[in-house]
Formats: sequence, structure tokens, C-alpha cells
Amino acid sequence: MTAPEGYHYYEGVLFYENLFPASSLDAMKEFEVRKDDLYVLTFPKSGTTWAIQIASLIRGSGDLEETDRMPLYARVPFLELVKPQIKTPGHKLLESMESPRYIKSHLLKRLLPQGMFHVKPKVIYVARNPKDVLISYYEFKLHPWSWEEYFNNFLKGNVVHGCWFENIAYWWQHRNDDNVLFLFYEDMKNDLKGSVRKISNFLDKQLDENTLDEITRRSSFDVMKENKNANYKTSFGNQTEQLRFGKAGGWRSRLTPEESQAIDETFNARLAEIGLEFKY
Ligand code: PPS
Repeated sequence: MTAPEGYHYYEGVLFYENLFPASSLDAMKEFEVRKDDLYVLTFPKSGTTWAIQIASLIRGSGDLEETDRMPLYARVPFLELVKPQIKTPGHKLLESMESPRYIKSHLLKRLLPQGMFHVKPKVIYVARNPKDVLISYYEFKLHPWSWEEYFNNFLKGNVVHGCWFENIAYWWQHRNDDNVLFLFYEDMKNDLKGSVRKISNFLDKQLDENTLDEITRRSSFDVMKENKNANYKTSFGNQTEQLRFGKAGGWRSRLTPEESQAIDETFNARLAEIGLEFKY
């Protein structure tokens, strides 16, 4: 398979060369996992920024104002990314960071640092329904395609970071492991404070109601959208902001019935096999 210009395949998975070069992906094989790391894992566009905002505010709850002043990408480095403005790859920044490190990654299980599977650090996994993910990722413009081309590539798992189903399936099957907290974007939308409480319990942080309320406020869509430390612009394509629409179910006004059905036909049988059903 030939990758589009500016992209490359790494172990059969598509990546954007400038942001995710082979050197960064190779480095995963040697990356040292610490027991007290927290990994926030997702398929792109599933609520990563939201979850790392909440988790990092919980870690820095002693001074929320100060914590929220630091750019989110510095609080929670993106493991496999080479950020063009910094040039230092995420894994290098992390090597010299003090514990407890909070780490963002979209890598498939087979490309993650394999130490994760015997050291067993905590993992927060966020899943979002594939129809909203597909649209959010299309709008992010990390692809060179028309809507039709992008749509077909998403269904084939041929977008940056690979197959949506493959990413989710492993962590869903491990959702009851002691070190894993599996969350849905749609549940976070329905009950944000409840989700903040769930994450703080998982991180063994007992927070009073006022602190929980303040973290919930700082993690709401409207407040995060205005916070330039959370809602930064991408350095590629149209310089899209991280926070765009922020709703569950936006696909209803964007997908044709045929497109919605094609997504169901591609994923539903595989989701049923692993006992995972999305609330649309
Ligand atoms: S990335 O770039 O892959 O890490 O993107 P990710 O952060 O996973 O997903 C971006 C989508 O999450 C939405 N988002 C939120 N929704 C609700 N509330 C809050 N606080 C929030 N923060 C981020 C963001 O708007 C993207 O979804 P869309 O549908 O494009 O708006």
C-alpha cells in the first residue's frame, strides 16, 4: 500500500510523517513504563483532551488556577507525537519528567510500549460512538481526502492511528482489570460531575465537593473552549481548534441514512462479538 504524500505506514498503520515519524514509533519499544504512570488512551477524537484536562486538574487540585495556566500538552505529554513547535518528541519529554507522569496516546495496543502489559500502570480509556468520531476526525483535517475518500478509508481502518474498532476492542475486553477505567464520551456528556468523581476515585484522590465542582466547571465545554491552554490550535491543515462542537449525536444532521447504515454494517457485528453496544 502506498501512503499519501506526507504520510507513511508503520506496521500497517497510517501516520502523518511530520507528527509521528518512524523514529518516534520505534522509540515505543524501549520506552520505560513506570508503575505510577497514568495513561489516557483513546482513538483520536473520542474525548482525550477532555479526559486529560480532568485528570490533570485532579492531580493538581492543590492549586487549580496554577495547574490550569500550564498548557495541557505540557501537563500531559502526547507520547508518540513530535510537536513541531517544540521538536522534542513526547517520549523524550516524558523520560525526564518526574512521577507521577500523565501520558496521552492514541496508539493501538500492539504499538504501545509493551512494558505497559507487565508493569500495569493505571489506564483511563475513553470510547466515543464511531459516527461522531468519524465526523470529528474528518473536520480535524489530518487526512488529504475528499469526504467520500475519507469516509471509505475510515471504514477500512486506513486513517491516521489506524482502525477505530481495533483500538477500542482490546481495552473493552480489559475494562474490568484493576488498573483500567473505561469511560464513554456520551456518559461524560450526560453526567460530567459524576465522571469527575469516578476519575478522582480511580486516581485515589479524595476531593471535597467544592473542588469537584470547580474541576467540573473548568472541564465543561464552554469553559475549556475559552481556555487557550486547553483549546490550542493544531499546527497542520487549517489550524483547527481542539474543541469544535462538543456534542453527542451531531452525526444525525451530517450523515445520510446510507452513510449511517454503512457504519453500522461495518462495525455492529464486530461490536456484538465483543459485547459492546453504543448508545446513540
Ligand atoms: S484528539 O485531537 O484526538 O486528542 O481529540 P480528542 O480530544 O480526543 O477529541 C476532540 C473531541 O472532543 C470534544 N471535546 C469535548 N466535548 C465536550 N466537552 C468537553 N469539555 C470537550 N473537550 C473536547 C471536541 O470538541 C472534539 O469533538 P467534536 O465533535 O469535534 O466537537
